[in-house]
Order: sequence, then C-alpha cells, then structure tokens
Amino acid sequence: MDRPSSKVLPPAAADRDRPIGVFDSGVGGLSILRALRSELPDEDFVYFSDAGHAPYGEKGDEFVCDRSLAIAVDLLEQHRIKALVIACNTATAAAVHLLRAQHTNLPVVGVEPALKPAAALTKTGHAAVLATRGTLSSAKFGALRESLRGQAEFVLVPCDGLAAAIEADDQPLVRELCRRYTREACCFGSGPGEIDTLVLGCTHYPFAAEVFRELLGPEIQLVETGEPVARQTRRLLEAQELLNPAGGGRVEFRTSGNAEALAGAARRWLGLGLEPA
Ligand code: DGL
Repeated sequence: MDRPSSKVLPPAAADRDRPIGVFDSGVGGLSILRALRSELPDEDFVYFSDAGHAPYGEKGDEFVCDRSLAIAVDLLEQHRIKALVIACNTATAAAVHLLRAQHTNLPVVGVEPALKPAAALTKTGHAAVLATRGTLSSAKFGALRESLRGQAEFVLVPCDGLAAAIEADDQPLVRELCRRYTREACCFGSGPGEIDTLVLGCTHYPFAAEVFRELLGPEIQLVETGEPVARQTRRLLEAQELLNPAGGGRVEFRTSGNAEALAGAARRWLGLGLEPA
C-alpha cells in the first residue's frame, strides 16, 4: 500500500505572532530586553520580573529552579509564548537544563557571563568577572571557565547585594558596592599582569556601567551579553521559522513585585512609557 505523502507545513501565522517570554529575578533582564528589541524590532515580548522573590543570587539552586520552572509555565499558559529568554545568569546556571528538558518544543535561550568575548578582547590576558555567588559557584560556570583554561586569567568576585541595590535604585549603595568589588578584583590597568577587561556577569550590572566607568577609567573594557543573546534568539527563531515579520514590537510587563518600580525602570532604561500590566 502506498504510504500517504506527507509534507512539512510552515508554522501557522498564529505561532509566529506569539510573544517571546523574557524573565529575570527583577529589572536586570531589561538590559537583555533592550538588546532583544533592537535586534528584533517586530517581535512582541512579555517581560516577567520576579522581584517578589529577588534576589536570586544568594538563594541557592533549588529555590531558583522552582521559580524558573513556575515562571516558564505561567508564561506559556497565560501568554502562549513561542520562545523563552532566561535574562538572568543565575537562573540560567541553575535551571536552563531543566527548562529545556521540561519544554522540549520551546526554544530556550540562556545567558552566561561573557568569558569568551573577554578572553578575545583582553590584551593583558587578565579579566575580572563580577557576578552573583550563585552563578560563580555553579557547575555550568565552572565548565565555561575550564573551557578557556590557558586563554586568559579570570579573577572572580561574587557581588553580594549589588543586584539588590540596583533593583532598589539605591545609587549611593550601588556606588559603594561597585567600589568595594572592583577593589577586591584588584588591579585594573593596561600594564603587564593588570586587569584590562571587566565582565558584567549579572544582567543587573550593565545598569551600573556608568559607575564602573567612572571608577575604572575609559581604558578598561566592560563586557556584557545583551547583543550576543539577542543574535542567538534571532538564529533560533529563524531556524524554526518563528520570526514575526510584521509584529507590533509591543512589550507587556508582569511582575511578582512592585509594578510601579518595574514601570519606572523600563521608562528610565528603555525609554518605554508603558503601563504595568
Ligand atoms: N540578574 C540576575 C543575574 O543575571 C540575578 C540577580 C539576582 O537576583 O541576584 O544573575
């Protein structure tokens, strides 16, 4: 008997029209959303800030995994997202493998501290990595560092409290902590053995970039992950024919914390005058 001929149908327009889910423990993921919107201006996004449970960095893997899995389910059920961007290094390190295993049909993009770009950029061969305690102690980060053995020396500085200070927009505390942690990394400069590259290994830290620049001077390179993550998201959507050619570029905000604070951060950092959902 002839087998029925089958043909691969393109994804329904409705699939392409669905939003991309983006989440973080708080406002830090807005630094990733900023890059996503610039790379994918026609896409719609729903941004979830888990500020009611932040910060993640000092809470341990089990907690972060539980929150990440619950948020993914919520974004799928409430918003029918077509892809998920984990805009948080800590949540990626703890939960990306679980999210991919639980949602095999959902493209999932994670973020990791930009060690590879830093190894390529540093001229002195020395870079500092500022990140949460959770990220730096994770097996995933250990493997990443190991894969670059011999290519650069990395000084690791867990920055307890810094994401929370940025989340609260407490500028004096942000300044004090940036000073404390860059001193701890010691010693920045372009001479032999000095650190000439600073990896901002938490998505909150790009919002303190001006403070770091002021403290370290213009010759120190700051490296973040927004643009590569946005390009990777485009590649994944393209490969699955899920790019939205004519969406509205809308962003919907959801939070388990203070909606006004999230709307204020979105206005301040992304120029988005959106009403909190
Ligand atoms: N923004 C997050 C990250 O990239 C986590 C900050 C936190 O909640 O501690 O790791």
